[in-house]
Amino acid sequence: MSKNQLDKKSQAWSALFSEPMSDLVKRYTSSVFFDKRMWQADITGSLAHAEMLAAQGIIGAEDHASIQRGMAQITADIESGNFEWKLDLEDVHLNIEARLTQLVGDAGKRLHTGRSRNDQVATDVRLWLRSEIDLIGELLVDLQKSLVDVAEKNVDVILPGFTHLQVAQPVSFGHHMLAYVEMFSRDAERFAEVRRRTNRLPLGAAALAGTSYPLDRERVARTLGMVDENGNPQVCQNSLDAVSDRDFAIEFTSAATLTMVHISRMSEELIIWMSQNFSFIKIADRFTTGSSIMPQKKNPDVPELARGKTGRVVGHLMGLITLMKGQPLAYNKDNQEDKEPLFDTVDTLKDTLRIFSEMIGGQLNPATGVKEGGITVNAPAMEQATLKGYATATDLADYLVKKGLPFRDAHEIVAHAVKAATSHACDLSELPLAVLQEFNPMIEKDVYECLSLRGSLNARKTLGGTAPVQVQVQIARHRVRLA
Ligand code: ARG
Repeated sequence: MSKNQLDKKSQAWSALFSEPMSDLVKRYTSSVFFDKRMWQADITGSLAHAEMLAAQGIIGAEDHASIQRGMAQITADIESGNFEWKLDLEDVHLNIEARLTQLVGDAGKRLHTGRSRNDQVATDVRLWLRSEIDLIGELLVDLQKSLVDVAEKNVDVILPGFTHLQVAQPVSFGHHMLAYVEMFSRDAERFAEVRRRTNRLPLGAAALAGTSYPLDRERVARTLGMVDENGNPQVCQNSLDAVSDRDFAIEFTSAATLTMVHISRMSEELIIWMSQNFSFIKIADRFTTGSSIMPQKKNPDVPELARGKTGRVVGHLMGLITLMKGQPLAYNKDNQEDKEPLFDTVDTLKDTLRIFSEMIGGQLNPATGVKEGGITVNAPAMEQATLKGYATATDLADYLVKKGLPFRDAHEIVAHAVKAATSHACDLSELPLAVLQEFNPMIEKDVYECLSLRGSLNARKTLGGTAPVQVQVQIARHRVRLA
């Protein structure tokens, strides 16, 4: 191979190298087959950089126009699937730049003035992630709305509230759904926070130390919408930090992990509730699968997979944190490994949120404007299960306290009453008044109101409690918040 051929074939960056990269090393070091999905961010960042170079007189107006023209062509080619991505050109940045130069000549070669791939890639990841965070924010709103819809329909449905998965106290199924709305609303807050710190500009840091060209970084930040709520440009203030840290990606994955953990808790409940021994709910057939051997089976594959995929996202968080640990300043190629875990986290989370919104709340029927096919609630089964575990025992204790007994004494008396009911194989509310009075003579006929599931539910009127009046207050609050 002649020296000239060697340069063409193996090196996108310099004539310094005396031997070509082996195919294995090329494959090992290249990232184009996964980072090409950031192409839009790469072009957006390049256009903002070029605009500023022109405004600062670092490149001429003609070169700027050529870069714009070339990038428009590249955009069209990528969108129509006519762009040829080359492994030899290593990554999305070099692929696009090389094509630009092919299209517009020297102007393309001037684009990289005052810039390095180090600040370029950091900018691209931030821009890409910012738009994904915005989508995730919308999906979280959709999911919360689905849950609020189900909550509203089931405010008066009683299910056993568990602690230790043992029947504890009656709760409203609507209240139970709203517990998840709280979790997902905090998740949304976390993503908004992460977005704020992601939305800062590394460009201008160049390779690591800044650059000698008179760049206007704040102008680029404004062009790219990297501004705070008052419109002030947000620029990374230390060049070494700008090119090297990926804490925003770690923070994002951490927020995604928590969201998936919340999803996994819900999944676990859906799976339990669907089992024949509970039969609390049904999910639509399109979210279940059959068994190849047992003809009667309908398996909750979607929640099971979501529970499993949570592990995958937790793994990505571990991967990214470990990637960053111990890296000396500034940029190291290790950071190329940030993309696959980040991309997979985004894909997994978005798909999961979409599918859960629909599985819980149903799908909009355009003909009727009504959502159909969400979860089906079996209210009698839930209520029946609540009657099984002495769920109103605390209410009996509270009843005695209101009659003047210290709580600890009341607690002890009720334990005896539960023991008696167990030996009669009946609920507390089924014990005759005379029997109840043996435990304490202050017990009167009105005790049956507080021993009923509905009486117990209605009594829990504290802010954030399960009484239907409170649940309605919360539904109204969420409706305003999510509108
Ligand atoms: N593909 C690289 C990455 O993802 C781009 C930056 C490469 N910089 C370098 N100096 N090799 O991090």
